[in-house]
Amino acid sequence: MKRNDPCWCGSGKKYKKCHLEMDEKIESMKFVGQRGQIRPPHKIINNAADVEGIKRAAVINFGALELAGSLVKEGVDTLTINDAVHEFITSHGAHPSCLGFEGFPKSICISVNDVVCHGIPSRKEILKNGDILNIDITTDLDGYFADASRMFTVGEISLEAQRLIKITRDIMEAGIAAAKPWHFVGDIGAACGKMARANGYSVVTDLGGHGCGKAFHLDPFVSHDCAADSGMLLVPGMSLTVEPMINAGRKQVTVDESDKWTVRTKDGSLSAQWEKTILITETGCEVLAS
Ligand code: MF3
Ligand code: CO
Ligand code: CO
Repeated sequence: MKRNDPCWCGSGKKYKKCHLEMDEKIESMKFVGQRGQIRPPHKIINNAADVEGIKRAAVINFGALELAGSLVKEGVDTLTINDAVHEFITSHGAHPSCLGFEGFPKSICISVNDVVCHGIPSRKEILKNGDILNIDITTDLDGYFADASRMFTVGEISLEAQRLIKITRDIMEAGIAAAKPWHFVGDIGAACGKMARANGYSVVTDLGGHGCGKAFHLDPFVSHDCAADSGMLLVPGMSLTVEPMINAGRKQVTVDESDKWTVRTKDGSLSAQWEKTILITETGCEVLAS
């Protein structure tokens, strides 16, 4: 790309006035090959208009999570929550990204107690006193994606469950605090893993976060327990999720044979997860979806 060409990011600005300097800085770094360090591809870097698009999707996604939370009550089945959220998202001209994603049959994921993630809403799953659940929603508005999840509780929950939920949220925030430009994606997992272990919890590593913005799932894979200074270089304009799955017991998980989606802890222990979509900025990061 020549200095006076329009920049590859689609901003409409000349390359020399847009991403030339960043490209030169990335190119000048001599890390490739060590600790799996790699340079980010252009396709996962957002311009200002892309960021606005993700933020518009995030407004609807936030409303969807608020609505879902307001419906969590003893005696409610999880399909009722799914259907209300589906109606909310579609009535705002957007699409619930989970629906049809690799054949996923419902619009959102609801993962109760020992279910780690990808729980399928069902008429048969009726919330009961003491349950803890993760509701994970992704909204696609005009080709921009916002992905976030939160924990909710039903009635009176145990002290152990309360502690797991709180610490898992702290672990996500520690991961987000470690996300900085010109550092590496592995710093996020290093921060999460350290805090999880310090609290006696295990981190699921079979699944992780992902680039998210101009598509639902993009590079890089975001591990929540890995070496600092490893993996993809983070640069301004990248958007990705931080979504640690934390188990009270062991880290191993199994997928239900019956539906090929539901991921559970192998030992039956409780699991919690929180998720935000963040943007790497010039100085640190900014939350796009929560
Ligand atoms: N929203 C989940 C994530 O955080 C992905 C769910 S994919 C589905 O990446 F197919 F299970 F819905
Ligand atoms: Co999600
Ligand atoms: Co995600």
